[in-house]
Amino acid sequence: MFTFSSARTLAFAIAGAASVAFGGVAAQADLSSTNNITSLAGTWSSNSHVETGGSFCNPANYSFTYPLTTGISYSFTDTGFFEEAQYRFTSNATNPKCITAYILWQHGKFELNDNGSMTLYPFPSDGRIQVQDPCAAVTNLITEYNQQTLYADWGITMDSTRGNYKMQLNRFDGAKMPPMWLMANPPNMLPTQYLTGVNASGQAA
Ligand SMILES: *[C@@H]1O[C@H](CO)[C@@H](O)[C@H](O)[C@H]1NC(C)=O
Ligand SMILES: *[C@@H]1O[C@H](CO)[C@@H](O)[C@H](O)[C@H]1NC(C)=O
Ligand SMILES: *[C@@H]1O[C@H](CO)[C@@H](O)[C@H](O)[C@H]1NC(C)=O
Ligand SMILES: *[C@@H]1O[C@H](CO)[C@@H](O)[C@H](O)[C@H]1NC(C)=O
Ligand SMILES: *[C@@H]1O[C@H](CO)[C@@H](O)[C@H](O)[C@H]1NC(C)=O
Repeated sequence: MFTFSSARTLAFAIAGAASVAFGGVAAQADLSSTNNITSLAGTWSSNSHVETGGSFCNPANYSFTYPLTTGISYSFTDTGFFEEAQYRFTSNATNPKCITAYILWQHGKFELNDNGSMTLYPFPSDGRIQVQDPCAAVTNLITEYNQQTLYADWGITMDSTRGNYKMQLNRFDGAKMPPMWLMANPPNMLPTQYLTGVNASGQAA
């Protein structure tokens, strides 16, 4: 007898096995249908120090509040809005002393595409980034950031170790984003509308 609930359990087991055994390969697969065990809605973070909403970024006065540690966080609503917060270090293979720190924030609308990918469409005037590059002539400026982003696939699994939902976003170039766990639902987000500049109909925020 194959009940609905045992089908769900099987889906969990397959999703779990795939992500453990074929971690690298899974990045190529469309995870959206098999791994969508809960809604995208909520705030997801790689660790509790980095979260969307709150004081991470104030786009109006171009300021960031630096988290205690690096990490990433995304929030999604059921109505098609997203918010993204990242604080990361990247090393430079050519010059290992040139470790670049960047902190960025943007929000806007997202779409789930038919082929299982996800596209973020930021509100162009609201995104902000600050790059600290010890090897660049000019560093530390906070500037506007507007990065339309395509994630080739995404998936949500149950992390039995933590007893929490885990989200994996995989970039179009195959790079896996750090895994994130569900921190809050409803999500913690700044208002899901243009906060600065003018919106698509030319009206000021
Ligand atoms: C994911 O699951 C939620 C809850 O069951 C559902 O509302 C949503 O439409 C699903 N999304 C996709 C892309 O399948
Ligand atoms: C930006 O505005 C926030 C909220 O009013 C304030 O807490 C923060 O100190 C301001 N930052 C700068 C750099 O002006
Ligand atoms: C790496 O550092 C060199 C200078 O040493 C610089 O020219 C290059 O743009 C850097 N690459 C990245 C990806 O930051
Ligand atoms: C998936 O769909 C998106 C949106 O239509 C598109 O930009 C992307 O190129 C597609 N990916 C592949 C692998 O076809
Ligand atoms: C632009 O902003 C105005 C005022 O807040 C709002 O009424 C309108 O719906 C917005 N248009 C778009 C396309 O977001």
